[in-house]
Amino acid sequence: MSRIRILQVCRIDRHVDEQLDQAYEVLRLWEQGDKPGYIEQHGKAVRGMVTTARDGVDVAWLEGLPDLQVVSSLGVGYDTIDVPALHARNIQFGNTPDVLNDCVADMALALLLASSRKLLPADRFVRDGSWGRRQSFPLAGSVAGKNLGIVGLGKIGQAVARRAEGFGMQIRYHNRSRNDQVAYGYEPTLVGLAEWADFLVLTCPGGAATHHMVSRDILEALGGDGTLVNVSRGSVVDERALLDALSHGKLGAAALDVFEDEPNAPAELFAMDNVVLCPHVGSATVETRRKMGQLVLDNLGHFFKHGRVLTPVDG
Ligand code: DGY
Repeated sequence: MSRIRILQVCRIDRHVDEQLDQAYEVLRLWEQGDKPGYIEQHGKAVRGMVTTARDGVDVAWLEGLPDLQVVSSLGVGYDTIDVPALHARNIQFGNTPDVLNDCVADMALALLLASSRKLLPADRFVRDGSWGRRQSFPLAGSVAGKNLGIVGLGKIGQAVARRAEGFGMQIRYHNRSRNDQVAYGYEPTLVGLAEWADFLVLTCPGGAATHHMVSRDILEALGGDGTLVNVSRGSVVDERALLDALSHGKLGAAALDVFEDEPNAPAELFAMDNVVLCPHVGSATVETRRKMGQLVLDNLGHFFKHGRVLTPVDG
């Protein structure tokens, strides 16, 4: 019996790649220079696609994939994937929610603490011998008793809140709507939350609805003593306004795992001591990536056996 043909947009990891190779006839798109040409030539009879939140799906490819039934993506975000366009073609889409909540929430707290306790300058201070020369290191800021504003109180936002409670922080949130299941204060406007917050943590989805939601006004409301932490998507923040606010002291600090033009971060940030920069690694632990990879496989397997993915996106 011939194997089901799938198109793999990019490598995932050795385990997932091997499992895919064993179970399916895999077309490796990442090895092709002319991707549209390759799809046009070989796309017929492709029934499944594997991609990631980073690599997404180019809608132009769909023309050459008349038999595509399912897309399975590594990552919870799907701002790089036109889900309505897939649904219009009756193609199911599954992502990897939940298995990364704790990991991304850990990252948000790691960034928040690294920024408030000046961990990166402290590390450099030891390495460059300043400590040995008995120079003084500036005092950092505590987090206990400080105000944490969470933008987007989904499962990741709630995991951030639980952790921050353990650090003795006061918590409020802004969301599309109030969540009656939680005891945290709801701020109906983002600017209201930013004015109240010492730390503003972004855990909302990317995409058109949140594009540049953190504007110049929001950054200035957060203010010269405030810190922005972003583990969501770079597109949520107006990066030009962020650079201006940081360089003019209108925002105190920023700790960023995501950027507007990945894999590039604005070079202006590199010389700033009040920023922490990470290369979009919120879910990048061995344990979490293993679970995400398994869910990519399970979504495909479940679809081909039972006609539906385990974790469909309905948007
Ligand atoms: C996600 O799961 O969306 C992460 O940001 C990885 O891209």
